[in-house]
Amino acid sequence: MKDLTPDRKTLDPIEIASVDEIRALQLTRLQWSVRHAYENVPMYRQRFDTKGVHPNDLKSLSDLAKFPFTYKDDLRANYPFGLFAVPREQIIRIHASSGTTGKPTVVGYTKNDIDMWANMVARSMRASGTKPSDIVHIAYGYGLFTGGLGAHYGAEKLGCTVVPVSGGMTQRQVTLIDNFKPSTIMVTPSYMLNILEQFREAEIDPRETSLDVGIFGAEPWTNSMRKEVEDAFDMHAVDIYGLSEILGPGVANECVETKDGLHIWEDHFYPEVIDPQTDKVLSDGEMGELVFTTITKEGLPMIRYRSRDLTRLLQGTARSMRRMEKVTGRSDDMIILRGVNVFPTQIEEQVLAVSSLAPYFQIELSKDGPMDQMNVLVETLPDSSSVEDKEASRRDLAIKIKETIGISVSIHVGDPGSVERSQGKARRVVDLRPRE
Ligand code: DLL
Repeated sequence: MKDLTPDRKTLDPIEIASVDEIRALQLTRLQWSVRHAYENVPMYRQRFDTKGVHPNDLKSLSDLAKFPFTYKDDLRANYPFGLFAVPREQIIRIHASSGTTGKPTVVGYTKNDIDMWANMVARSMRASGTKPSDIVHIAYGYGLFTGGLGAHYGAEKLGCTVVPVSGGMTQRQVTLIDNFKPSTIMVTPSYMLNILEQFREAEIDPRETSLDVGIFGAEPWTNSMRKEVEDAFDMHAVDIYGLSEILGPGVANECVETKDGLHIWEDHFYPEVIDPQTDKVLSDGEMGELVFTTITKEGLPMIRYRSRDLTRLLQGTARSMRRMEKVTGRSDDMIILRGVNVFPTQIEEQVLAVSSLAPYFQIELSKDGPMDQMNVLVETLPDSSSVEDKEASRRDLAIKIKETIGISVSIHVGDPGSVERSQGKARRVVDLRPRE
């Protein structure tokens, strides 16, 4: 793999400023943002008043803990534009969640917000090792999802040649990568595996492609998956994080030279990690729920937004800004199986540890009497698909899951191609339990 470490001279000075300087900037910006929300969004004014807090009470960064949280349901309750802090005419872009589980959540951006977003994605791409004038293949979905257009504006801002492919038509993805020779691909990690399979089908050696780096996000993925993809393509795999309510992609990104968690772009987003049970703010290093406050956003300021993502904050390394550890999962994705908490990422690690299995999996949850049952659907590699091989793979995976996670699960080892393939964000859990 190439050394893609960016020249420090190309970084934004604030990325490597002193921690004191970053904190001072954050306080000034946070005070502005909390006041902006209070003065322009009725929900915030009412919430702050009820709690007896006022923007004037924010004298230090830790005072933020006195302010109320904001939840995804607040966006739904104020559907579509009720949380915008500027007149609608100043909003130049709307994005929205798919709304498969109720009303979609709608977000809006002013011109300055879009510029900031492009800058944050450009910074993320630079941290990933992409350089101006590189060719960038974007396979995140374009449309209401923030992935495609978010990546697109950032790649243009960095000065790249952008190939806006969007998701789907996987064979065409392979052809375009083969013909256009991009250095960078931006895509969900699960869809990258789908693309990998199509490379093999087309009998093109994935290690011979022009790709130097993949910027993978929009869903949790593990260091085992990083190794799988890096080995398959002989390229770097770097993690990008974001959420629509706060921005879209580009809230945090790994640095290619360290790959030790994602630096949060703290000059625009103030992170806290809280105990989701007690709502108390935790110290850096402690695991909990990530909460974000936007400190420069005009259109949709978010004060203490509960992301539901579980991780911990760590001090900066390649940059001065703090890192978040790779996300373990969302609190909503946590499965409680006979008293043990399980995340799909834990299953992913174990599937990838069995060399006779392909890197695809899905978890089915069902009921066996009063007990929850987990069935892990995996598939064998083409060269180990005899009945005996499958049984050996099944046993191997069952033991690994039992030993590392401490649960007994049923496992189905199918033929190659039997597990559902991802087109974007993978559907890791299929819940077949009857609704109570
Ligand atoms: O997924 C934005 C995005 C697009 C990020 C492309 C990165 C790349 P939403 O659809 O609002 O936005 O989903 C946000 O996805 O709260 C996490 O649960 C999850 N997520 C996003 N990035 C990561 C990541 C986009 N790198 C939700 N690791 C977030 C783990 C991630 N989970």
